Amino acid sequence: MALSAQEKKQRVAAAALGYLRDDMVLGVGTGSTVNALIDQLGPWKTRLRGAVSSSEGSTARLRALGIPVFDLNEVPDLGVYIDGADEANPRRELIKGGGAALTREKIIAAAAHTFICIVDDTKLVDTLGQFPLPVEVIPMARELVARQLVALGGRPVWRAGITTDNGNQILDVHGLRISEPRALESAINQLAGVVTVGLFAARPADLLIVGTDSGTRTI
Ligand code: A5P
Repeated sequence: MALSAQEKKQRVAAAALGYLRDDMVLGVGTGSTVNALIDQLGPWKTRLRGAVSSSEGSTARLRALGIPVFDLNEVPDLGVYIDGADEANPRRELIKGGGAALTREKIIAAAAHTFICIVDDTKLVDTLGQFPLPVEVIPMARELVARQLVALGGRPVWRAGITTDNGNQILDVHGLRISEPRALESAINQLAGVVTVGLFAARPADLLIVGTDSGTRTI
């Protein structure tokens, strides 16, 4: 039986609950898949010590449930981070940032011992780049960075009207076929004015849980 994308999100979120432990601080990402996770955290609210969150939106949802949300600076040891992605390949390299939270997501992924990515099977691709690659930029550098992204072979489009939680802007880079994710991540990271590129390849997910019509599978 074919499941809807929402049903698959609920399944992968439920599977991710299996990695929670009593008294842990949980890293929580952003987006509709993570919202499906937060919606299932009710029974955990007294068992978790709390959470760190990658966006104001997720923070508000967690607090509404009664889960304390800590600043990452207060958490010396983060065990598990659970987040969605916009695209994932079989090497667990990701494109993230469709929800504009990529910078805080990359910081929490870097801090976490185990990064668990939860996606439905529509997000799984052989080669990253069909989903436009988000790049967070300092506002005054937007056009400068855009020209350099064109030189790298992309077609950047300003996500007009969106300001990130960090006060910056987003360029979505279309037309890339990303055969070497680590190299491209490094090249874009080095452009002056770039805050974060939404390629997660230098630090990929440790586990990728994929929701399918028949259940979940873990890569
Ligand atoms: C947020 O900036 C993104 O990285 C999300 O993790 C990504 O867009 C996945 O979102 P959905 O779960 O809503 O597809």
